[in-house]
Amino acid sequence: MKNKKLYIVMVGLPARGKSTIAAKLKECLVKDSIKARIFNNGELRRKTIPTNTSFAEFFDPRNKEGMSIRENIALINIKKAQRFINNGGYVAILDATNASLKRRKLISRKLNDHPILFIECINDNDEILRSSIMTKVSTQEFIHLSKEEAYNAFNDRISYYQQIYTSPEKEKNYIKLDSLNNCIIKENIENSVPYYGQIRDFLVTDTLKNLYIIRHGETFFNLENRIGGDSDLTEKGLLQARSLANYFKRIRIPLIFTSTKKRAVQTAKPIMERQEKGTIISLPEFDEIDSGVCECMTYKEIKERMPNVYKQRKMDKYNYIYPDGEGYITMKKRIDQGLKKVLFLSQNATNIMIIGHQGVNRMILSHFLFRREEDVPYIYIPQDKYYYISSSQNRKVFQLKKYQ
Ligand code: F6P
Repeated sequence: MKNKKLYIVMVGLPARGKSTIAAKLKECLVKDSIKARIFNNGELRRKTIPTNTSFAEFFDPRNKEGMSIRENIALINIKKAQRFINNGGYVAILDATNASLKRRKLISRKLNDHPILFIECINDNDEILRSSIMTKVSTQEFIHLSKEEAYNAFNDRISYYQQIYTSPEKEKNYIKLDSLNNCIIKENIENSVPYYGQIRDFLVTDTLKNLYIIRHGETFFNLENRIGGDSDLTEKGLLQARSLANYFKRIRIPLIFTSTKKRAVQTAKPIMERQEKGTIISLPEFDEIDSGVCECMTYKEIKERMPNVYKQRKMDKYNYIYPDGEGYITMKKRIDQGLKKVLFLSQNATNIMIIGHQGVNRMILSHFLFRREEDVPYIYIPQDKYYYISSSQNRKVFQLKKYQ
């Protein structure tokens, strides 16, 4: 392994998932006994500069003082990275926007002793970008500003970076990564880049430390075997939510993802109340299967009034699509999209919770665990237990556990 040293240079506008990817890469490399370290310019700036640098104009390319401070920070980290590599480190990751050609030329000039791999992170999904910015502005750096002021300041900062941004796609060793979808859009690897096999695979793998998949508590519709709708939790459902809250109170859960339905949010609320701090994020992608013309009917009513619907669905439940509604097959796209959002917004959080529904949770489980399509609509989704999943490149854990 003696000569296998590598610099990784992250590139991308702010809030494009660079730091999440950098942290994931480092963790995977370290697990493989490859000594890796991240050198993050933003962190160094916040640590070393006593004055507040959250205001957008600090990042204006015409602001000479701001530019020189940032160049200095970049230089310190470049030197630190080189020192790390010369003192037994194997992979140094430079985590910053590295948006301008000038900055990348500086890096290439200074770090000419080992190969450099540029990883450009792209994500132009407006909704995700907004949520990602909201997470960023809830940090210490923006504490003196209102949410709106902070959001605007961050957006202006992005605009300043856009003015100087050039893609590194002409670089010798380059990967363009869609960081929301964990997929490689372009790659250009000229030199033999050390660890490339592992790195490429890490980048496209969904890694989950602890994922808790919970079904909402009992609802009034559940009591009658009625499907869809937006029913409230029953007394028993509320009690189940409180039991879940008690069970999870010692596990730090910064984000709980739910559908937009009342039953899911009502289950999440008591759990979040027992957490020190955290946010509930409701995603329409996790709404229960839309049963179209059958919404709010009981299974018995469907059988009696629409025998064909009932029969056909029974024959091929996975592929059957309710008239004016959805089927498991058509739900797949939005569930996958919801999971991408969860992974992106969780930013390597150790514990992630999703509170969904019977049909939705079946699809979520089948995303991480292979099930034949015909068996997916029958996966057991009880309300007194939850599923636990931990998944990485080479390890998968899957458990059904009681919380009461
Ligand atoms: O019955 C509860 C429920 O979540 C319904 O809202 C939904 O239509 C159904 O489960 C999905 O399960 P299945 O595909 O088995 O009908």
